[in-house]
Amino acid sequence: MNLMVFGAPGAGKGTQAKFLVERYNIPQISTGDMLRAAISQKTAMGLEAKTYMDAGELVPDSTIIGIIKDRLDKDDCKDGFILDGFPRTLAQAQALDELMKKSGKKLDFVLSFDVPDELIIQRIAGRRVCPKCGASYHTKFNCSKVEDVCDCCGDELIIRKDDDVNTVKNRLENYHKQTAPLIDFYKDMGVFVQIDGSQELNKVTKDMFEALA
Ligand code: AP5
Ligand code: MG
Ligand code: ZN
Repeated sequence: MNLMVFGAPGAGKGTQAKFLVERYNIPQISTGDMLRAAISQKTAMGLEAKTYMDAGELVPDSTIIGIIKDRLDKDDCKDGFILDGFPRTLAQAQALDELMKKSGKKLDFVLSFDVPDELIIQRIAGRRVCPKCGASYHTKFNCSKVEDVCDCCGDELIIRKDDDVNTVKNRLENYHKQTAPLIDFYKDMGVFVQIDGSQELNKVTKDMFEALA
C-alpha cells in the first residue's frame, strides 16, 4: 500500500502516520524528519535546508526531490510506504508521479487531515517532539506518560525551532499558497480522501482506518 498523509503544518500527519506504520508495517517517509536528521548530522544539505526551515519557508524542490528519489529506491519501500510532508508543491507532485510511473507503482490513497488554522496554532503551541524517533506529543491533547520524556525511546522531548508562533503563521501561509493547490491534483487522480482532522486524536485515527477499509 502506497499512502500519503496530507495537511497543513500541525494537522496531525506525523501522529497518524505512526499508526499506519504499526498497522501496515511500511515505513513513514517524513521529509521534515529527514531534513532535521541532516541538520543534526551537519551535512551540507542539512545546513542549507536549515535556513529555510528556521524561517518557515519551503526547502527548494530540487533538494527535496533528490532526497525522496533516493529514499523510495530503498529496499524497505518495496511493499509500500507512507509519505509525510511530501509533496508540498506542484513540481514535487509531478516529480513523484513520474518516479512512481517509472517504477510501475501507484499511489493508493492521499489521506488529507482538514484542520482550521486557529486549531493548528493551539496544537503547535503545545507540541513537544522526540528528537530521536520524531514522535509528537502535546502538553494538553496528547501527553507523554512522563512529562517531557518520549514514551517510545525515553529521550527528552524538545520544542521544534520552527514552532514559534510567527514562524508557524508563515508556514501556514506557505501551506495555503503552495501546498493546498495539490488537493485538486489528487482529487483529479481519484485517490484523495478527506478526513476531519479537527476531531480528537482517536476519532481521527478511527475515521482514517475506516477510509482505508
Ligand atoms: P514538517 O516536519 O513536515 O512539518 P509540517 O508539515 O509543518 O508539519 P508538522 O510536522 O508541523 O505537523 P504534523 O502534521 O506532522 O502534526 P503532528 O502530528 O506533529 O516540515 C518542516 C519544514 O521542513 C517545513 O516547514 C519545510 O521548511 C521543510 N520541508 C519538509 N518537507 C518539505 C518539502 N516536501 N518541500 C519543501 N520543504 C519541506 O501534530 C501536531 C500537534 O498536534 C502535536 O502536538 C500532536 O500531539 C497534536 N495532535 C495531533 N493530532 C491531534 C488531534 N486529533 N487532536 C489534538 N491534538 C492533536
Ligand atoms: Mg510532522
Ligand atoms: Zn522517541
